[in-house]
Amino acid sequence: NAVKIRVPGTTANCGPGFDAVGIACTIYNELELSLSNEGGISLEVIGEGAGAIPSDNSNVAVKAIKMVLAKTGHNYQGIQLKLTNNIPLARGLGSSAAAIVGGLIAANELTGNSLTKENILDMATALEGHPDNVAPAIFGGITISILDSGNTQYLRFLPPSGFSMVVVIPAFNLSTKAARKVLPDSVPFSDAAFNVGRTALLVGALCSGELKLLSSALEDKLHQPYREKLIPGMAQVLSAARQAGALGAALSGAGPCLIAFTSSNPEEVGHAMVKAFRIHNVEAKFHILNIDT
Ligand code: HSE
Repeated sequence: NAVKIRVPGTTANCGPGFDAVGIACTIYNELELSLSNEGGISLEVIGEGAGAIPSDNSNVAVKAIKMVLAKTGHNYQGIQLKLTNNIPLARGLGSSAAAIVGGLIAANELTGNSLTKENILDMATALEGHPDNVAPAIFGGITISILDSGNTQYLRFLPPSGFSMVVVIPAFNLSTKAARKVLPDSVPFSDAAFNVGRTALLVGALCSGELKLLSSALEDKLHQPYREKLIPGMAQVLSAARQAGALGAALSGAGPCLIAFTSSNPEEVGHAMVKAFRIHNVEAKFHILNIDT
């Protein structure tokens, strides 16, 4: 018995909503799983990460599968995994969240579907460390998710008016771990207050469809200023997006991808962002994505 699961890539934070706001995007990984009583782990990877993804217990999809087996009391020894990946690795588009969520959902399907989506969200958050990529990977759309005494609370919605996202993918990767290391232990009260207002405005703008508010609602002082030094040209690429007509732009997750939100001319915005990266000797390409629903 085998199962095939499709999971979207995700963009987290969306400027001020650090560790809380996430959007599922129209870029997908596929995970095929079969379980058997004998044999060890076998892994085939096609596309992004081929040759780089480990096939042992350090593989996050394997960790996720084993978590489901332990929780549901199954004792399968053989795990056959085939990953067909479109989401680039370690770029800020939720590749590890997609692997975790794919592993959890696939293993749940093969073991009798005893876990709810909420159980899967809690397990995925525990594996990932924060809920903002895993929640939209599970539910699609836009999610606000927070950890409350070990449980993940979330809200999922779709905006009344559509927009496109232009994601610019530089040719280097950056681990979330490295991008979290540069964050300070505490921030000035005024910076926290700055982000509270922006995050509230961001969620309100997305819920109501008042998308022109995104130009101020995507500003951030909690993480982007500290991560800028890891991404050459970041400030200039974000401002190039706005100059080319984007509603606003931000770091995607922990980076290094940068993402612009636009209601028109996504191609123009993408070219402007790639050009701005090139001035800083960073090769990059862009994708136009929509919200996965
Ligand atoms: N909220 C996380 C961060 C997303 O910014 O570190 C990365 O997965």
